[in-house]
Amino acid sequence: MSQAKETILVTGGAGYIGSHTVLALLRAGYDVVILDNLEYGHREVVENVLKVPLIVGDINHRPTLDQLFATYKITAVMHFAAYIAVGESVKDPAKYYRNNVSGTLTLLEAMVAANVKQIVFASTCSIYGMPQQVPMTEEHPIAPINPYAMTKRMVEQILSDFDSAYNLRSVVFRFFNASGANPEGLIGEDHNPETHLIPLVLFTALGKRESISIWGTDYPTPDGTCLRDYVHVSDLANAYLLGLKYLSADGKSEVFNLGNGNGFSVKQVIETAASVTGREIKVVECDRRQGDPPILVGSSEKVRKILGWYPQYPDISNIVLHAWQWHQKRHGDNK
Ligand SMILES: NC(=O)c1ccc[n+]([C@@H]2O[C@H](COP(=O)([O-])OP(=O)(O)OC[C@H]3O[C@@H](n4cnc5c(N)ncnc54)[C@H](O)[C@@H]3O)[C@@H](O)[C@H]2O)c1
Repeated sequence: MSQAKETILVTGGAGYIGSHTVLALLRAGYDVVILDNLEYGHREVVENVLKVPLIVGDINHRPTLDQLFATYKITAVMHFAAYIAVGESVKDPAKYYRNNVSGTLTLLEAMVAANVKQIVFASTCSIYGMPQQVPMTEEHPIAPINPYAMTKRMVEQILSDFDSAYNLRSVVFRFFNASGANPEGLIGEDHNPETHLIPLVLFTALGKRESISIWGTDYPTPDGTCLRDYVHVSDLANAYLLGLKYLSADGKSEVFNLGNGNGFSVKQVIETAASVTGREIKVVECDRRQGDPPILVGSSEKVRKILGWYPQYPDISNIVLHAWQWHQKRHGDNK
């Protein structure tokens, strides 16, 4: 087997955030290989847009990983492969611990065996649980309230232990709500099932859903609906580049929040979508859902200070506009 030039392995690179990160890596001049089992990823995005080698395989399958590390000269791993549905994780926790924790452990062991010692990991703000203060900093107590968030918390611990034991350095990004799409409309968010607010609102604008539900209108927020921190997916991808440069310059393992520091309410998102799309969006006001904190907003001071990350698209209207352009194209909406 011939050794290629230095390459970044992106697990879950056929998924939403992974594919945007692959695009950013390619544009920055990196070689990339994707490992994705395509359970939720999109082969056509890799073949038609990203055009990088795709290994269709599972992070739980050690021989696939060993073969991959023997074939490509991998210098760092960007790890996105995981199950992401909070509700499903409550009903079927074993599935989540097996994929997100055990799968990551298998990946990390294969990395150590192949002497690959840098990883950027996609964690989540939901590991903080119910916010005790906002904006939340990285020092906020960790108290996951569902198995999905717990899998991320466990992997963060494993990463810390792997650094102590094997000098495997990591950058952990705790994302707030990833949203938007590539501004040129090349790729976008295509989850199935979809659970995120912005695509669901846009499906309503497209006529693919009858209405959008607002879960709770009596929260202690300015308009009574929940506030969330939306981060443009291209800004997340840029943070990954900075994380990679930081690790390759011998930076020590670090954990960073990635959010805009601004909260937008559910009603604000729906109003923005109505104005961006010029369409009527039917709303149904419902009771609160269990476990929804009123406000989830992150402080990104640390990532700004250490990595110099600033979001290019902090404005909710750009986030919704880019998502809308993508969904119109994806669903053949020419109106
Ligand atoms: N979307 C968000 O708002 C958000 C927020 C916080 C954290 N995250 C994290 O970011 C990462 C990416 O999220 P996303 O929204 O792009 O999800 P996604 O489902 O679009 O992408 C995940 C990809 O991983 C692949 N995959 C899953 N299990 C695999 C396995 N065992 N082996 C190989 N491939 C596997 C899937 O096929 C999919 O292509 C996840 O780790 C998620 O937990 C996402």
